[in-house]
Amino acid sequence: MNIKDIFNNMEYGKAPESPDQALAWLASHKNKMSHFIDGSWQQGSGHFASNNPATGEELAQVAQGDEKTVNQAVKAAAKALPDWQDLSGQQRGQYLYAIARLIQKNSRLFAVLETLDNGKPIRESRDLDVPLAVRHFYHHAGWAQLLDDEMPEHEAIGVVGQVIPWNFPLLMLSWKIAPALATGNTVVIKPAEFTSLTALLFAEICQQAGLPKGVVNVVTGDGQTGQHIVTHPDIKKIAFTGSTAVGRWIRQATAGSGKKLSLELGGKSAFIVCADADLDAAVEGVVDAIWFNQGQVCCAGSRLLVQEAVAERFHKKLITRMNKLRIGDPLDKSIDMGAIIDPRQQQKIATLVQAGVDAGACLNQSDAALPKSGCFYPPTLLTDVSPSDQVVQDEIFGPVLVSMTFRTPDEAVALANNSRYGLAASIWSENINMAMHLAPLVQAGVVWINCTNQFDAAAGFGGVKESGFGREGGKEGLYEYLKLKAGKSAKKQANQANKKANSNKPAKSEPIEGMDKTPKMYIGGKQTRPDGGYSYAIHNHQGEIITHAGLGNRKDIRNAVEAAAGSKTWTGMNGFQRQQVMYFMAENLTYRQDEFAERLMQQGHSKKQANDEVNAAIECLSYYAAWCDKYDGQVHGVPMRGVAMAMHEPIGVIGIQCPDESPLLSFIALLAPALAMGNRVVMTASEAFPLPALDFYQVLNTSDVPAGTVNIVSGQQAELSKPLAGHMNVDAIWAFGADSQVIEHESATNLKRSWTETEPRDWHNNGRGKEFLRQASQVKNIWTPYGE
Ligand code: NAI
Repeated sequence: MNIKDIFNNMEYGKAPESPDQALAWLASHKNKMSHFIDGSWQQGSGHFASNNPATGEELAQVAQGDEKTVNQAVKAAAKALPDWQDLSGQQRGQYLYAIARLIQKNSRLFAVLETLDNGKPIRESRDLDVPLAVRHFYHHAGWAQLLDDEMPEHEAIGVVGQVIPWNFPLLMLSWKIAPALATGNTVVIKPAEFTSLTALLFAEICQQAGLPKGVVNVVTGDGQTGQHIVTHPDIKKIAFTGSTAVGRWIRQATAGSGKKLSLELGGKSAFIVCADADLDAAVEGVVDAIWFNQGQVCCAGSRLLVQEAVAERFHKKLITRMNKLRIGDPLDKSIDMGAIIDPRQQQKIATLVQAGVDAGACLNQSDAALPKSGCFYPPTLLTDVSPSDQVVQDEIFGPVLVSMTFRTPDEAVALANNSRYGLAASIWSENINMAMHLAPLVQAGVVWINCTNQFDAAAGFGGVKESGFGREGGKEGLYEYLKLKAGKSAKKQANQANKKANSNKPAKSEPIEGMDKTPKMYIGGKQTRPDGGYSYAIHNHQGEIITHAGLGNRKDIRNAVEAAAGSKTWTGMNGFQRQQVMYFMAENLTYRQDEFAERLMQQGHSKKQANDEVNAAIECLSYYAAWCDKYDGQVHGVPMRGVAMAMHEPIGVIGIQCPDESPLLSFIALLAPALAMGNRVVMTASEAFPLPALDFYQVLNTSDVPAGTVNIVSGQQAELSKPLAGHMNVDAIWAFGADSQVIEHESATNLKRSWTETEPRDWHNNGRGKEFLRQASQVKNIWTPYGE
């Protein structure tokens, strides 16, 4: 036997990490864990077993939180809130700093406990989960201090409820708690039922750090406990990471409650390998993308797209590498893959893979020996799959990769975007031009170029489409835990004239007569009559009918959405081009100033009020025209040799329900930021006084706005808002003066972002600013390493 043979055949020695310290910690709690409420341990009534997935052995009994427990925790968090908020940012930052230091000090204990509880390799919990958790607290300690300088108009939301999954228990806790505390909120957090232990160890760290009682409360339990948190009336914000199904339920359950929501949900992320990629590096990328944490990663690169010319070679290399992965005792430091979280998850994976094979997929599975007991699943590659197969569309959440090929970059983008999810994507090419061409085209919240699964507290993470909304990390993540200060809030009195208009209830629908005088709707660049052929009366402030407007129905909404979704010209234009059109719009509105003022006077505005509103609308258009090329992204300072570029992207099609107050100004104040950021819109005009919005087609027609960019429907809001909010091709919904319950409930169809306000806004004094630009855009973080 020569050295090469010895090298190839040599067995790995065992390198186990000792579980003793972690087991001793559990024993110190008598292996029966409590909730952590108001700074102390509270035994719950019921308990359930938390097992080690690698052995099936019970680690501890964990308390099942009921409604009473959640009430106690929320009460404690509410009580702690005023004092916590009274602290300076510097003081809050010191607590976060102390927590970071203490996790660091106990990092070995955290890593071992995490691995025992979750089954992930110790290498990962030690080198990734725990260090990143620490990094989150350090990073946000800094934000606490800088908040007053950087976000002086914002303040904390209040008591926040956080529900986290089992795949990164400590890390997800840190992603949620660090920004919440930095911004001055107090927290009730529920870890996943499979993995509660590191959250309870974290509670102990909070005690050691001297964190004031009630600032962090940990309630353990299952989905039922989560439901009590989600529906608690005193919780003002819910942050959730987990499955899309539960995310959708949460969206519906909180609809109309006024709770702020961020959802980080499932994914089926594309891993694109171009023919010119460094194939060996890309193979290692795949290993990290899908076999890291046994593939139980929301942003796992689970859909491999390989350019046809290199597909065969790449698959060969990949299978060779896959067969070398070592699966076994997660506490062994030389293990690549550990245990699946629970037998039910293992069964789910096996069932989905079998369905793939039954549908014709070719199964490539590592033949590495699996441990005899415990919950393990081998690394798996499915080839010969079709884009519509269940294994390609559904999140498997296990070590299962599906692979397809593409010929052209356009085809790669089409395949990548053929998913209801949009969390992340990874692009491999040695041609930076090609990679940077593809990155903006892929629908995802995060794009990694020639790397994968990069995370950092300084860069936002989160998805688009059914992967949810909101970001965690980076400055963009802080807004999820902030609201505008009271003086800046939307709830201000509308002016007298608006009140008068609001009191005019629309008459019941009538067949259209004298159509010429009826202002038409505007869809796909054309004036259109309502599909149903009905109109409704528009009154002046004295209650007299002045004209009729088209009574739009769900078909009109569908036509308008189709026009907006099909028209991509506006979104493809750069900021400078959009700016020129928007200045032109402002100019054209100026030419028609008198006509619009007349319209407003019909509603009851005095001449001065009418002129003021038209002037404000003109100014608003040029204000957002100015922003078109200035609402820049950021380059985040992540600790890698490279950059993470946070780009502001348009959301797509925004459905906008306009309020009744200041009918011209509010219409423009909502239209202009959406356009400035490159979106297309479907607007439902003020119900009581739609005329200025319907007249606006003249300005659009004379200002070179591409057809389909702006679509305006009139009618009864209650009729129109439901199909608009529920439409699958609408990517975000803004509703002012709306029934937020209906809007938010309907928005759950495709988990679109929603922005609702039920109270009238003072559009003159509080009708524009960055809040609107933020709502009109989404952040995509593109990570690009540099250096050879
Ligand atoms: P899940 O979404 O049910 O659980 C996540 C968390 O939500 C847990 O803390 C759970 O107790 C809680 N929860 C469950 N139902 C709730 C409700 N109605 N209200 C409030 N909280 C609730 O995920 P599960 O069942 O553990 O895994 C099922 C599938 O979900 C996985 O196979 C995977 O596909 C996906 N998943 C995705 C994750 C991600 O990070 N995107 C994380 C975990 C699971």
